[in-house]
Amino acid sequence: MTDFPNQSQTVEFPQGFLWGAATASYQIEGAVDEDGRTPSIWDTYSRIPGAILGGDTGDVACDHYHRMPEDVAIMKRLNLASYRFSTAWPRVRPDGGAVNQKGIDFYRRLVDELLDAGIAPWVTLYHWDLPQALEDQGGWLNRDTAHRFVEYANTVYDALSDRVQYWTTLNEPYCSSLLGYTSGGKAPGRQEGVAGLVAQHHLLLAHGMAADELRRRGATPDNGKQIGITLNLTTVDPFDPADPADVDAARRVDYFFNRGFLDPVFKGEYPEDLFTYTEGLTYQGRPWQDWVQDGDLKVISAPLDTLGVNYYRGHGASGRPHDDLLEDNVPHAPRPTVSPYPGSDNIVYPRRGLPTTAMDWEVQPEALTRLLVRLRDEYAAPPIYITENGAAYDDEVTPDGAVHDTDRIRFIDVHLRAVHDAITSGVNVQGYFVWSLLDNFEWAFGYLRRFGIVHVDYDTQVRTIKDSGHWYAEVASTNRILG
Ligand code: NOJ
Repeated sequence: MTDFPNQSQTVEFPQGFLWGAATASYQIEGAVDEDGRTPSIWDTYSRIPGAILGGDTGDVACDHYHRMPEDVAIMKRLNLASYRFSTAWPRVRPDGGAVNQKGIDFYRRLVDELLDAGIAPWVTLYHWDLPQALEDQGGWLNRDTAHRFVEYANTVYDALSDRVQYWTTLNEPYCSSLLGYTSGGKAPGRQEGVAGLVAQHHLLLAHGMAADELRRRGATPDNGKQIGITLNLTTVDPFDPADPADVDAARRVDYFFNRGFLDPVFKGEYPEDLFTYTEGLTYQGRPWQDWVQDGDLKVISAPLDTLGVNYYRGHGASGRPHDDLLEDNVPHAPRPTVSPYPGSDNIVYPRRGLPTTAMDWEVQPEALTRLLVRLRDEYAAPPIYITENGAAYDDEVTPDGAVHDTDRIRFIDVHLRAVHDAITSGVNVQGYFVWSLLDNFEWAFGYLRRFGIVHVDYDTQVRTIKDSGHWYAEVASTNRILG
């Protein structure tokens, strides 16, 4: 199932479909030690030798902290109806402690600027920049971090809720847990086996507790507020459907990647298979589920108003060795990582002959349609927003001063058509946010990978709207993609 949507037809999106672009604090802000901000785990991680390609850090990034009004003016030129950004915990509550008014003021100014430009702010409370001081006390392996998160969420909510409708608790908890504490490929870079599932549970608990507290403060649709979570989700097909090893590999990835998050949030339970796959594995001498306390899953599964879906690619998994693996031939940070799936070390992703992006991620738009239909059928998901979709390509500013990123236009076009197909099948998708507004700090890939619809020259901080940006501006204002 790897068909591409037919691009010859014009498709119209439902009225009111929300067109946006997304960023995250550590990836764009810079100004890491200004106005009271203290280090996050990404400031620390990016200084581990070999952790980031080229030794890059987010110290300056897109200098958005100082250039915010210019960036909002660009958003206006792009006809964005909404802008999804994250607030930086170590700015708002440095070290996870007392409130820092200057940190809050920055986001108040941003929200003012957005509203003046007619752009709806969409706040993500946690896009991976945990205060380092909290990591020093155990980070997401410490249940207390969830309580600290609630305090921080309350602070942001109290400061901005008079003007912000859309609230997301966590962005991609998969990355902050299994990549942060099992594979070590993301901050804090710990490789502690099944500890990743303990971190995952505490993150989901933080989500549930914060959502509950925000509800108490009046965050309900009746008050014009919507609360959700953003999950990175995918489809996983066996590379060879006739090979039991590949079928098993695909099933495991689906459980760790998709179901491990969807089931607790929407069904109030962890899937049985997660226990089977991790049987015999311990953190501090105990199985990971020992960290799940009575009542936690009830908190985690309280109803949500929205589900944010970040989709970049489908997966074709295999349980056997192969020579030609995806991502093997593109530059990576030198620091070695391990499998993010505790107890499932042999899973690989062989090349399936699909087009790939500069990340060497396969382009598989029809999988997005399948995923969205599944979310409705298996999870009765609340209204869905695509909170991230986009692609890295090796963009260049050409002598005419433009960036002719036709590959990215095609990528966004076919994925929007895939979303449209899902809507036609009756799935309630209400908006789409391209990742990303700007080229930015792409985590372990540093500044090498460019996802923006706006190019950033990191030497001069000059922004150039790419062809994809101009194209997207047209789509956002006309509510349709032309055939
Ligand atoms: C998802 C993450 O939320 C975002 O921070 C990242 O840059 C994109 N994926 C691209 O890898």
